[in-house]
Amino acid sequence: MSDNKIIDGKAFAEKLRGRVAQQVAALKSKHGFTPGLAVVLVGEDPASKVYVKNKGQQTHESGMNSFEHKLPVTTSQAELLALVDKLNKGPAVNGILVQLPLPKQIDPQAILDAIDPAKDVDGFHVVNAGRLATGGNSLVPCTPLGCLMLLKDRLGDLTGKRAIVVGRSNIVGKPMAQLLLNESCTVTIAHSKTRDLAGECRRADIVVAAVGRPEMVRGDWIAPGAVVIDVGINRVDAGGGKTKLVGDVAYAEALPHAGGITPVPGGVGPMTIACLLANTVTAACRQRGVPVPA
Ligand SMILES: NC(=O)c1ccc[n+]([C@@H]2O[C@H](COP(=O)([O-])OP(=O)(O)OC[C@H]3O[C@@H](n4cnc5c(N)ncnc54)[C@H](OP(=O)(O)O)[C@@H]3O)[C@@H](O)[C@H]2O)c1
Repeated sequence: MSDNKIIDGKAFAEKLRGRVAQQVAALKSKHGFTPGLAVVLVGEDPASKVYVKNKGQQTHESGMNSFEHKLPVTTSQAELLALVDKLNKGPAVNGILVQLPLPKQIDPQAILDAIDPAKDVDGFHVVNAGRLATGGNSLVPCTPLGCLMLLKDRLGDLTGKRAIVVGRSNIVGKPMAQLLLNESCTVTIAHSKTRDLAGECRRADIVVAAVGRPEMVRGDWIAPGAVVIDVGINRVDAGGGKTKLVGDVAYAEALPHAGGITPVPGGVGPMTIACLLANTVTAACRQRGVPVPA
């Protein structure tokens, strides 16, 4: 019974990547170009190295061109800005992603501001954030875009739903709230200063948790039948010298209450790279003036 409550982001992401691969093949045969994604890694952060490797591999698998730039940890801001400038001008590069976090000597905002908004497939540039807020043609941050896809797949039309987004970061919480507002949800944005967070969550048909606190959202905060999207990825002690990943929602407690819930791992996580690939196709089509595939 609880099986069909589980929102399988891994399977959804696989289908989405398959769709992107078909779109890439069609762009090649009908329009004669192949979208290209450039990923820049500065330094040796182990988690970032894994992300960048996975991004490169999945970009190749989709049939797109992947350009990887690995720079030493001593890279200066000026050197990184020079690379971004080169990528902005490179006609084969349709999307640019600079992997965060960056070493201390580099101001991440200065780098994000320097990326051409048309190639900003992470959707972090202020122009894309502004367009998302004002209804223009933006590139939408990948994680919230993936969350929205999972919600629409589960619930269909979201009009009139009460949604709460717990967390107000620029990369997840705020764009998520904006996307839900654009779907005509009634949106509450909660954060560390919110009073009676449990009560706020209990009123919601949709709960999106993007907090970064292991299992903070408890089972009895979830209204019967509400759909829960857990963005959190927290590594915690699993005893015996081992660790495990948990979300921001106490999954086992929430499962009996929820109408649908994303597991961690295997929920939102796999959607992020799939949406990055989809954003690269969108960016490439807009740059080339060809229709963006539906
Ligand atoms: N699946 C993915 O691909 C993916 C992508 C990105 C992030 N993540 C994960 O998602 C989580 C959130 O990431 P983020 O970058 O948005 O984090 P963040 O920048 O640290 O923001 C966390 C937000 O949670 C709020 N918060 C902290 N403690 C709270 C509390 N006790 N009650 C209510 N709200 C509280 C903060 O409120 P204030 O603003 O008041 O401080 C802040 O707005 C992390 O676990 C991260 O690893 C996953």
